[in-house]
Amino acid sequence: MSDVEHKFFTLDDFNLRDRTVLVRVDINSPMDPRSGRILDDHRIRRHLETIRDLDKAKVVLLAHQSRPGKDDYTTLDEHAIRLSQLLGKRVEYVDGLFDSHVRTKIRNMKAGDKILLENTRFYAEETALTGEPNWYKHQRTHIVRNLAPLIDFFVHDAFAAAHRAQPSLIGFAEVVPNLAGRVMQKELEDMGRVFREDGHPRIIVLGGTKIDDSMEVAEHMLKHDNIDTVLTTGLMGQVLLMASGIDLGPGSTDFIKREFTDHEELISRGKNMLEQWGERIKMPLDVALNVDGERRNVSLDGLPSEHTIFDIGLETIRDYTRDLRDAKLIIVNGPAGVFEREDFSIGTTELFRAVAHSRGFSIIGGGHSVAVVEKLDIEDEIDHISTGGGSCISFLSGKPMPGVEALERSKNIFGKGPFQSR
Ligand code: 3PG
Repeated sequence: MSDVEHKFFTLDDFNLRDRTVLVRVDINSPMDPRSGRILDDHRIRRHLETIRDLDKAKVVLLAHQSRPGKDDYTTLDEHAIRLSQLLGKRVEYVDGLFDSHVRTKIRNMKAGDKILLENTRFYAEETALTGEPNWYKHQRTHIVRNLAPLIDFFVHDAFAAAHRAQPSLIGFAEVVPNLAGRVMQKELEDMGRVFREDGHPRIIVLGGTKIDDSMEVAEHMLKHDNIDTVLTTGLMGQVLLMASGIDLGPGSTDFIKREFTDHEELISRGKNMLEQWGERIKMPLDVALNVDGERRNVSLDGLPSEHTIFDIGLETIRDYTRDLRDAKLIIVNGPAGVFEREDFSIGTTELFRAVAHSRGFSIIGGGHSVAVVEKLDIEDEIDHISTGGGSCISFLSGKPMPGVEALERSKNIFGKGPFQSR
C-alpha cells in the first residue's frame, strides 16, 4: 500500500490485535432468486485482503444485499458460506443485527473469530435515513447505539456503497475511530488519478439497470464539464430512446414500467437531459431483440416491437467503439445488455474489448462489469477496476461521498484525541 499521507486512517495506523473491529463491507452480489445462490463472488473476494489483515482481531462484518422489494433481497447466510470457503476460515452468519443474542455473541468473541451479521437493509432505519449525512441522526440510530459500545474500531471497506449516507456506513464516524479498509484505500488512491489526467475526449459509457444513478451522474458530469460525451446503453439507453419519442413497443416498455414505478419521472428527466445536452449524449442507433431466445438485430425503424430489447445493436457497437478508440479518459459503468446470455453479450463484450485496446486511462466499475472483465481476461488492460457502480461514478464526477467524509471526519476527531496511532 502507498505511504501517501491520507486524510483518513488506514489499517496501518493502529494495532488492532485482540480488538473488536466492526467492518462494513460491500458484498452485495448478483444472486439467483430461485436457488438463492450467489452468481458472482468477485466483490466478496475483493474484501479478503482486509479480513486477512485483521486476522488477529475479533471481526464483526456488516453488509447489505440488494434493496427491499427486489428478487435478490435476502439474508446473508450464503455470503458467510462463500466467505468461509474463500478465506479457509469459518465466518459465522448471525441472523440479527443488534438484538441481544447478537450483542452477547460479540461480547463472547475471541481474537481470530469472524462473524457476519444480518443484511443491514432488513432494518428500516438503514434505508430511511438517506440523502445528506446528518451525523447526529445517524449516530442516534439503534444500530449505532447498540453496536458502538461493543467495538473498538470501525473499518469502512464498502467503497461500493460510500455514496450512500446510511447509518451502517457513516453512523460510527464520531463514536469510534473509522479506518479505511484495503478496498476503500486502493479505490481512493487509484481513482484519484483521474483528477490528474486532463486529456480529451473524455467519455463515459453508461449501462446496467440502475437508471436513476446513471442519470444523476450523467447530469452532474455534463453540467460540470467533467465529461465530453455520454454513450448510453442498457436500460438507460432504452429510457432515453423513449424520452426522444421512440416507441419501443410492449416487449420493452412493459418491462420498464413493471420494474420502475417512477418510469414516467425517468422519461421526463431523460427529455430534459436531451434538451440540455442532446449533442453530447449518444443513444443506440439500433438494438438486439430477444425473439424466442434468439438475437435479432433491428434498426430503430424496426420498433415498436412486441419483443424485448436485450442488447445494443451492431451499428451502435461500431459507432461507440470508434469513439472509444481515441478517448483519453474512459469510464464504463454497467453492461450494455443481458450479457449473461451469450447471444446478447456482444454489445458488452465488444465495448469492453474496445476499452481494453484504447490507450486512454480507463476505469471500469459496476458489479456486473467486473464479472465481464474477468470473463474476457482483460484485467491487465484496464487501469482501474472499481468495486463500485454508482459510487465509482459519483466519486469520479466529484460528487460528495458521505462514506469518505465519514472517514475524514473520524480522523479529525480521533486524530487529536487520546487514541494513539502507531
Ligand atoms: C451497489 O451495488 O452499487 C452498492 O452495493 C450499493 O447498492 P445500492 O445502489 O442499492 O445502494
